[in-house]
Amino acid sequence: MKKSFRDFVQALDDGGELLRVNKPVDMRRASALMSQSDKAVMFENIADYPDWRVAGALITSRARLAIALDCGAGEIAARFEERAARPIDPVIVDDGPCQEVVLQGDDVDLSALPFPIMHLFDGGPYLSGTFVVSKDPEYGRNSGSYRMMYRTPRETGIDLVSPSDMRFYYQRALDQGKPLEIAVAVGVHPYEMLAASYKAPIRTDELSIAGGLHGAPVPLVKCKTVDLEVPADAEFVLEGELLPIGWTADEGPFGEFSQISGDVKWNPVFRVKCITRRRDPIFYQLQMPWENDWLAAPVTEAAGLQALRIASVEPVDIRAPVGSCGYWSLIASIKKRPGEGKNALLALLSVAEVKLAIVTDDDIDIHDPDDLDWAMTFRVQADQDLIVVSGARAKHIDPSVKSWELGKGGLPTTAKLGIDATIPEGVPKQLYRRIRTYAADDVRLEDFL
Ligand SMILES: Cc1cc2nc3c(=O)[nH]c(=O)nc-3n(C[C@H](O)[C@H](O)[C@H](O)COP(=O)(O)O)c2cc1C
Repeated sequence: MKKSFRDFVQALDDGGELLRVNKPVDMRRASALMSQSDKAVMFENIADYPDWRVAGALITSRARLAIALDCGAGEIAARFEERAARPIDPVIVDDGPCQEVVLQGDDVDLSALPFPIMHLFDGGPYLSGTFVVSKDPEYGRNSGSYRMMYRTPRETGIDLVSPSDMRFYYQRALDQGKPLEIAVAVGVHPYEMLAASYKAPIRTDELSIAGGLHGAPVPLVKCKTVDLEVPADAEFVLEGELLPIGWTADEGPFGEFSQISGDVKWNPVFRVKCITRRRDPIFYQLQMPWENDWLAAPVTEAAGLQALRIASVEPVDIRAPVGSCGYWSLIASIKKRPGEGKNALLALLSVAEVKLAIVTDDDIDIHDPDDLDWAMTFRVQADQDLIVVSGARAKHIDPSVKSWELGKGGLPTTAKLGIDATIPEGVPKQLYRRIRTYAADDVRLEDFL
């Protein structure tokens, strides 16, 4: 059955992974409090916003990501890959809880929503956990996640700098001098969030990918003021349009998913026409950058698994480390046949903006940094086991690509590094026999205490 954001919060609670805070909390302090919790947090009482509760830091560990995907911590990438490959189309329903309250005209007031201030240098309060739906007459429906900075009671910014399908849709509308209608659903299940950040081919409806992840269709309701549909079980929805002003409004700075305090960007403006919500809404404060990075990891890992399989290499395990924001590095262990260490690297480095790939044999635990260091120490000869590719596609927010040296609108490139930490061809496997303690299984220390 299709699960909701609330079902996920309940699953965290049932798994002992949710901290409920009952004392009143000021939204300028919510982020700081969340960052001190090793569990997900639900603020039950928000100062000045009596209608709202706030949940956040929901996915800041592999264990909680596994709860989101309803699988074991070691099965996340495979689960995502398998289910995303079997999309299920959404269905339209007559009504849903996200429209229990409808606010239009003079009642539209974003200052009545508990937008949090998250990071020290941020340009304002931000909405971070969004599921944004748009449509293009030719290419169809699209969903993605885009952050939104509070500007006025009826306007937010949006970060639409990076190439994405919605940026393309916006450009097409702009070329005709028209606004682009969007609907922003907040408080949707992590499956929808994962589908939104999945780089699907342009004519693919990410809501069908979300259906595949759920194993059931996502029920959608028609928006009240725009020609779009949103997940019926969302906590709240902002309907409106991206104004046809191009990349002209200041937006940011904001703590980016690269874990770096960003700079001011030039972006379009979102004008809100209608707010719909549940009667007792929960505001999802996606704790940036950590939740974004944990959500990025399964998508990158699944793309890595797929690339390996297409290259006829058998993967055993894969990891997009959160230190690389779940995005820029991939580490994989494989069942290797001669030459496949290098083939695997070529496959992994083809994934999006992955700029570091490491491949090991399947006797290495890629989740154990010491085991990985050991493989890189004794299985790598730097003159034979490194691959460097220059001039590949990059992202502006990686400072090392020096995008400030580019002309306006220029796209940066990056070098990519692959490290083959598999046992080199021609080196006998028995030379890697690991030390085992003598009589290890014969005695137990506790029997001597
Ligand atoms: C929590 C979260 C926030 C995101 N914020 C932004 C953003 O502000 N701007 C952006 O361009 N991409 C952002 N992304 C990435 C896009 O949602 C992602 O690239 C998406 O795949 C783009 O959709 P597309 O497949 O339609 O191109 C975010 C992803 C997540 C998970």
